[in-house]
Amino acid sequence: MTGSETAPRTIDTSRPHPARVYDWLLGGKDNYPVDEELARRILAVDGTAARGARANRRFMHRAVRALAEQGVRQFLDIGTGIPTEPNLHQVAQGVAPESRVVYADNDPIVLRHAQALLTGTPEGGTEYVHADVRDPDTILRLAAETLDLDQPVALSLVALTHYLDDSAYDLLAQYADALAPGSFLVLSQVSPELAPEAVGRVADFFSKSGTPLFPRTSAEFSRFFAGMDLLEPGVRPVLDWRPDAEDDAAAKEGAVPMIAGVARKA
Ligand SMILES: C[S@@+](CC[C@H](N)C(=O)[O-])C[C@H]1O[C@@H](n2cnc3c(N)ncnc32)[C@H](O)[C@@H]1O
Repeated sequence: MTGSETAPRTIDTSRPHPARVYDWLLGGKDNYPVDEELARRILAVDGTAARGARANRRFMHRAVRALAEQGVRQFLDIGTGIPTEPNLHQVAQGVAPESRVVYADNDPIVLRHAQALLTGTPEGGTEYVHADVRDPDTILRLAAETLDLDQPVALSLVALTHYLDDSAYDLLAQYADALAPGSFLVLSQVSPELAPEAVGRVADFFSKSGTPLFPRTSAEFSRFFAGMDLLEPGVRPVLDWRPDAEDDAAAKEGAVPMIAGVARKA
């Protein structure tokens, strides 16, 4: 495990944290009463929130499996979250055991649990970087100790960009510039399109708790993939991105306000 001193190391239980709120929504145990309180308030205005978290997680699994099946062997996952099985390396190494995976997050609770992410196959490798996504130099420098950045990498920020303001467009362009041709970008985030009122209220709760939320429309979200080739089916609600039977069953319960896309750097 490596990291940057700019990311905090002490767990703050006085206010809710996104990784812990999400953990509560996924049914995890690595959260505190402040996180549960915000998660319950979110559920009260957006009854799909727990389903949305699970659907988002399944999107990550499908996207990683699809990229691994088409030959990607290196993964850089930023905004990893508290470990929740199957984790990304388990999906990638399930297809190709030699896959190498670097995780990064800036939340000290993820750092505390990161050991569970370092249990990859002997043929492959996993590493954890404690750093902020807004520090690309540190993340890329430390990732390069495990990944060959001259070869294609799948960079994923799954359910992360909605915590970043519009400086994220330049930030993601910096990451894309640093990656080799043939690399991929995997993204999902909260969108106001499918449930405008509920998402507006959720954003309000987050902002009041000290974590501003930036929902984006499909058009705004698509700008993250500028200059890259979007894989089929393009930018879609998470439940509609190459859905499997579980997603089709989940969709019958109604839409969830998360959108996703995967693109390739030419
Ligand atoms: C909603 S969780 C998503 C976890 C996982 N990617 C998934 O989709 O299942 C968002 C994660 O992004 C992390 N995060 C938020 N802001 C970040 C930042 N500025 N730098 C790095 N990680 C960040 C949080 O700590 C949290 O673990």
